[in-house]
Amino acid sequence: MTTLAGPGAASSVGSALDRVEGLEKVTGRAKYAYEYAPDDLVYAAPVQAGIARGEVRAVDADAALKLPGVIAAIWYGNAPRLAPAENAELSVLQSRRVAYRGQYVAVVVAETLENAVEAARLLRVDYDVEEHDVELRADHPGMYRPERVNPVYPADTEQGDPDAALAAAEVVVDEVYSTPAEHNNPMEPHATVAVWDGDGLTLYDSTQGATSVRDIVAPLFGLPPGNVRVVSPHVGGGFGSKGTPLSPVVLAALAAKHAGRPVKLAVTRSQMFSVIGYRTPTIQRIRLGADARGHLGVIVHDVFEQSSRIREFAEQTATPTRMMYAAPNRRTTHRLVRLDVPTPSWMRAPGEAPGMFALESALDELAFACGIDPIELRVRNEPETDPESGLPFSSRNLVACMREGARRFGWADRDPAPGVRLRDGLLVGTGVAASTYPVYRRPSKASATALADGTFTVRIAAMDIGTGARTALTQIAADTLGVPPGLVRVEIGDSALPDASLAGGSMGTASWGTAVVRACEALTGALRERDGQVPPDGVEVSADTAREIGGERRFAQHAFGAQFAEVGVDPATGETRVLRLLGVFAAGRIVNPKTARSQFVGGMTMGMSMALLEESVMDREFGDYLNHDLAQYHVAACADVRDVEAVWIEEDDPHLNPMGTKGIGEIGIVGTAAAVANAVHHATGVRVRDLPIRIDRLVR
Ligand code: MOS
Repeated sequence: MTTLAGPGAASSVGSALDRVEGLEKVTGRAKYAYEYAPDDLVYAAPVQAGIARGEVRAVDADAALKLPGVIAAIWYGNAPRLAPAENAELSVLQSRRVAYRGQYVAVVVAETLENAVEAARLLRVDYDVEEHDVELRADHPGMYRPERVNPVYPADTEQGDPDAALAAAEVVVDEVYSTPAEHNNPMEPHATVAVWDGDGLTLYDSTQGATSVRDIVAPLFGLPPGNVRVVSPHVGGGFGSKGTPLSPVVLAALAAKHAGRPVKLAVTRSQMFSVIGYRTPTIQRIRLGADARGHLGVIVHDVFEQSSRIREFAEQTATPTRMMYAAPNRRTTHRLVRLDVPTPSWMRAPGEAPGMFALESALDELAFACGIDPIELRVRNEPETDPESGLPFSSRNLVACMREGARRFGWADRDPAPGVRLRDGLLVGTGVAASTYPVYRRPSKASATALADGTFTVRIAAMDIGTGARTALTQIAADTLGVPPGLVRVEIGDSALPDASLAGGSMGTASWGTAVVRACEALTGALRERDGQVPPDGVEVSADTAREIGGERRFAQHAFGAQFAEVGVDPATGETRVLRLLGVFAAGRIVNPKTARSQFVGGMTMGMSMALLEESVMDREFGDYLNHDLAQYHVAACADVRDVEAVWIEEDDPHLNPMGTKGIGEIGIVGTAAAVANAVHHATGVRVRDLPIRIDRLVR
């Protein structure tokens, strides 16, 4: 007989449970996509376009096919036909057109990886070259207003009379900020092993969403979703780049179909800079108008960014400006230009990360102009309700985060004068910025099973991309069932499991957790009806949150945070070091403090990297980003990370979901770059408005 103590009796949620798959990972038994090795496996080596715009005139595969072990060379001329895709990036090898340098134009399949790579090198592709245009400029004649920005927001908003308010303002900040293109580089690059069995396709794939890869890839091959299975129990990071299927997974499936053998395709580090999306560069003009005491009367945020010729991806850069601060007059705009570049895509906090760099830098400039402490300025401009929708916030603890951070960081004694503190030969300064990230939630399904041995299995096609999702769901299930987490086994990472939304938008725990809670509640009820008697084959129930999630929102829901940075700048060389970072977050209930801290600290580290290092440099003549490896695309290394601390304040918000959680995966990066840039200004008196904060931008 299985006796459930019932909800509330156990409290795994809130405890620092070790990752349930931790031992598997540290002993190397956890299998990642590239490690699957079905019989008859062969290797794919893609060929990338050597021009930025034009057409493939001819492909000569003779030399490639003569190499030993080469099985096939595939290009638009002989590739299997795919059904049209909504995302044209997925229509691989379907046309002669080349939309950007590095786009896949062919693939070679061979018995060994070495043979495949060598054959790909020998494949001769001739092009009709056309002139390319790869330069983002705010005054580009091709700028247009997209229908909406990612994922479904209006491109422009306007309230009041911003122009009149600017003209009448006592203090005006009017500055242009820019952020560069940035490329996602998760530790595990994208990889797929594609296996066909008749009309069935199995993809061992490194993805943030097994269900969505299945649903998007199946129709390309004319298959019902049920014929495709996506298996991804472990994923080594994604940060958005694996949030939606892109060309590599389709190329692997297509190559396997053509070759009649299982195919393994691993995106190389170099290819990560061409085919998996990136953060669009942005140019952002911010205008703030305030009275002398710093009360904002108007905020205008105009964004210019890019997309490719073949797909419109418009990042929602100005959306946080719509809800952060009170101001009766406000305008936000997004303009996009289509260039001969790869399609940008999601990268951790798309929109909020670059947008809040500009907005929070401008706030700091306004504080300086008004002679007001930057925290006090933000407190003075707290809105009572969401300035855009008028809805009440279900919880908004920005000010609490600022105050708590100020206390911990030692903000009270701060001398606001810039460029006056020399410590150990370094110019030292501190800066602050706000963070925010919206609360999203999507429908998912889950099943819960009571087994005769007194243990439980919960199944859901959720993804653990390194976040600790498997562990968090185990805790949530255990508490709902009222049993210790050791009795619960959570199975995730397989599209054969109940359909789930993707690991993206910081909504995994909220979306999957809701389905897990409902399934476990239903199981509790089913067991009660049977007086706890579990038959030999167990008791299984399932839940679907499609009806529960959706509907009209009664509250504005966002996570908030405050970022504090202390920097030291070498006055001779301009070298900047982040001496201290502190993030204070208000993100609902924290399910697991250990994995949550890791999420926050990881995001903050990525934000510091964004502030000082990350920059993909476009070569106008060549028509491509020049840096294609981590020697030239710099990311923060261990030595850069000195003192990074993340804490949170308890938030008890009953309007979110059964767990009371907000997302935590992305907010850590938001605001960090502004906090660093504001600290650099405080240290040196130099305001750097263009990321990253390079030496040449500091030393004049
Ligand atoms: Mo995140 S950039 O929504 O995976």
